[in-house]
Amino acid sequence: MPEKFLKFPDDFLWGAATSSYQIEGACNEGGRGESIWDIFSHIPGRICKGDTGDIACDHYHLYEEDVDNMKKIGLKAYRFSISWPRVIPEGKGKVNEAGLDFYDRLVDKLLEADIEPFVTLYHWDLPQALQDKGGWKNRDIVGYFADYAAVVAHRIGDRVHYWITHNEPWVVSFLGHAFGTHAPGIMDFSIALQVSHHLLLSHGEAVQVLKAIGNEKNNVGITFNLSPLFPASQKEEDIKAAERGDGSLNRWFLDPVFKGAYPSDMWSYYQDDVPQISPGDMSIISRKIDFLGVNYYSRWVVKDDPRNRILKLSFLKPDQAEYTDMDWEVYPQGIYEVLKRVQNDYSPRAIYITENGVAFLDKLDKEAKVKDDQRISYLKEHISFVHKAIEEGIKVKGYFVWSLMDNFEWAYGYSKRFGLIYVDYPTQKRIFKESAYWYKKVIENNGISY
Ligand code: FCB
Repeated sequence: MPEKFLKFPDDFLWGAATSSYQIEGACNEGGRGESIWDIFSHIPGRICKGDTGDIACDHYHLYEEDVDNMKKIGLKAYRFSISWPRVIPEGKGKVNEAGLDFYDRLVDKLLEADIEPFVTLYHWDLPQALQDKGGWKNRDIVGYFADYAAVVAHRIGDRVHYWITHNEPWVVSFLGHAFGTHAPGIMDFSIALQVSHHLLLSHGEAVQVLKAIGNEKNNVGITFNLSPLFPASQKEEDIKAAERGDGSLNRWFLDPVFKGAYPSDMWSYYQDDVPQISPGDMSIISRKIDFLGVNYYSRWVVKDDPRNRILKLSFLKPDQAEYTDMDWEVYPQGIYEVLKRVQNDYSPRAIYITENGVAFLDKLDKEAKVKDDQRISYLKEHISFVHKAIEEGIKVKGYFVWSLMDNFEWAYGYSKRFGLIYVDYPTQKRIFKESAYWYKKVIENNGISY
């Protein structure tokens, strides 16, 4: 079959993403306070091989080289997150100017390279001092988060036009507070639901803050991890399990932000575990946003499973599918399915794919090259489905590869490599994988041959 060229809109933003704890390192430098991930990663048994983010990619020191690399790839946008404890070490109160200086320099360096900064305020590294006060379970955090947003916006808001309040509140709520596999390692479903409400409420408050401080070009949004849900069979109980899974993963977050209400089926299903809500909360949560960020990696296939305590479902791994090093099924049309669904049910003003990418077992070969053909084909397939969505009129304005470079993959430590750039951790050397060269061409051509 002859290849077709899939061209993207002229103003399409091709980018790559990272987050503070996963790349910065310098955990005790420049006045940074402790985060929940510092504490969690040092607990024996929590992270694969006992890895921590103490040094990570040492991006705090190497950011100039990293931005130079972004420029070499030709990135038009870069999504990074601010470390709350680097900026406000105790989470509230005293501001650490040295921490703000770092992000100030980073933003300037990006702009010099003609790269649009997309700033995420919360990508999971909560100041430990706030965790000691109850963390996201304590409603006071909503005000602290709004204050933190204001501090950051006052410093870099003159140059930053794209803000993401939260990254993946589902992960923070459930992996952090119900399953306990992420910091702070709590295992209590009702706490997880209360946390989800406070995350969303703090999002709404931050929207107002960012709109007030920023200039007229300001775009404010939130990023959700979304997946299409499929029942393992056509049995009624499996279909219901898929609806519950969809309610928990997708609708529990999308409905409040876009419709101002939690989904009623899930509200009744969760019974006594539902969060406490105060009058006015839902209108704060549903303040108008400029865009939705979508992180997409795979789909969920589920079956009814009464042994599973709350959602009463378990996951199925379809046969004859390709799996990544994370053991996630490669399911490229899912990115299209998610986009279509979001457009139909919620019509956001704009959508950015704020993360999409893959971990495979990358190896440096004898010529010091990383031939990651599988990553190239993963990205190509997914990008082709993003193109299909755009052709059908869905307002996707940009696409960010996760990740710019290999980094600390949370509970998996450094064992999983998601980068376009290979990081040799002992030397901190950065080596472009073949996929980085490939992505450079995609950006140059503003599209892919498919
Ligand atoms: C997402 C996270 C990101 C990274 C990728 C693989 O859930 O936002 O930090 O870990 O998964």
